[in-house]
Amino acid sequence: MSSMRRVYLDNNASTPVLPEVVEAMRPYFGETFGNASSIHHYGQETRAAVERARDSVARLLACRASEVVFTSGGTEGDNLAIAGLVTAGDHVISSSIEHHAVLNSCKHLEALGCEVTYVPVDGRGLVDPDDIRRALRPSTKLLSIMMANNETGVLQPVEEIGRIAAESDVYFHTDAVQAAGKVAVNVQKIGCDLLSISGHKMHAPQGAGALYVRKGTRLQPLFYGGRHERSRRAGTENVPGIVGLGKAAELALEALEPGEERNMAALRDRLQQGILTHIDEAGVNGDGAPRVPNTTNIFFDHIEGEAMVIALDLKGLAISTGAACSSGALEPSHVLVAMGLPGGRARASIRFSLGKQNTAEDVEFALALVPETVSRLRELSPVYRRQTVSS
Ligand SMILES: Cc1ncc(COP(=O)(O)O)c(C=O)c1O
Repeated sequence: MSSMRRVYLDNNASTPVLPEVVEAMRPYFGETFGNASSIHHYGQETRAAVERARDSVARLLACRASEVVFTSGGTEGDNLAIAGLVTAGDHVISSSIEHHAVLNSCKHLEALGCEVTYVPVDGRGLVDPDDIRRALRPSTKLLSIMMANNETGVLQPVEEIGRIAAESDVYFHTDAVQAAGKVAVNVQKIGCDLLSISGHKMHAPQGAGALYVRKGTRLQPLFYGGRHERSRRAGTENVPGIVGLGKAAELALEALEPGEERNMAALRDRLQQGILTHIDEAGVNGDGAPRVPNTTNIFFDHIEGEAMVIALDLKGLAISTGAACSSGALEPSHVLVAMGLPGGRARASIRFSLGKQNTAEDVEFALALVPETVSRLRELSPVYRRQTVSS
């Protein structure tokens, strides 16, 4: 069988585990297997590994090690932050562009007797902090506003939102799943009480993540069991996953210091520019807003995004229409609709997201395929054909 060249530009869905991360994890699948709660030698070994990983994650987030709670990923961190804090009668302020891990946590709270205000975003995908100020009520307990959007990469004004939370004495949770490892994430600067990250979005394995919980923040646990993670998350630790997350956190921090995110942004900009100069009736969703360096979300009018994903996959390029968990959904992306895109344009949008493994050649590979695929799909669109014939 001939092996086709494949390029993966869907890193916001999941990233490949870096070789250094695999190496760091390897002993914990084999000879180093003890339960981190056991007091004997075997337990001490894995306990030490978990605590080293906790230190690494704490350095990445600029918090204390005791403020890091290991979780199974972003979804659990978001659920623990929200459900752990809010009770019936409380008011929550979130936004219309959150990941479903936050949105559906909020929906669940509404069913339990909480009220939730979802602030809108503007055409660039940005929350207006004044909308948050206006939505505050005496019963407001929590603000949950994401740091970077998974579909557009747009960075929210979290530092200003952190100031609002502090002034108003409400808790602030931010979903930083798509920010960690891409831009600096400093909980002191953000001024948040809770912040979730996920391993598999930053080159660690799937099924491991962490929630920063500011000292003194009391959370109701999601799981009942042993006193793991200082009684904030019961259950025997996923030691290999946690070790992988710790290693990925170290690598992310090392890359941020010399400014590697600028190289990533240059690669992303080359991809974006290359596409836009060759294709008309296309544009960037989130243009004009600050974005993480690895993501661009582009609309190609007169095509179906799903058809584009399939056509490009057949040629070896992996991209997506947006959140992996919403793929196959018939409704257009809630994020793009919240930004004011008409349904057709939202369905004609494609997310390209780079990872540390991607090279300039990968970008050229994509540039060789995307324009011709868009033209071919447009030729097949009856509406587009009618328009081009008549004009
Ligand atoms: C912004 C955001 N939050 C939360 C999640 C969920 O994280 P996990 O897949 O680790 O549960 C994702 C993953 O797609 C995400 O992009």
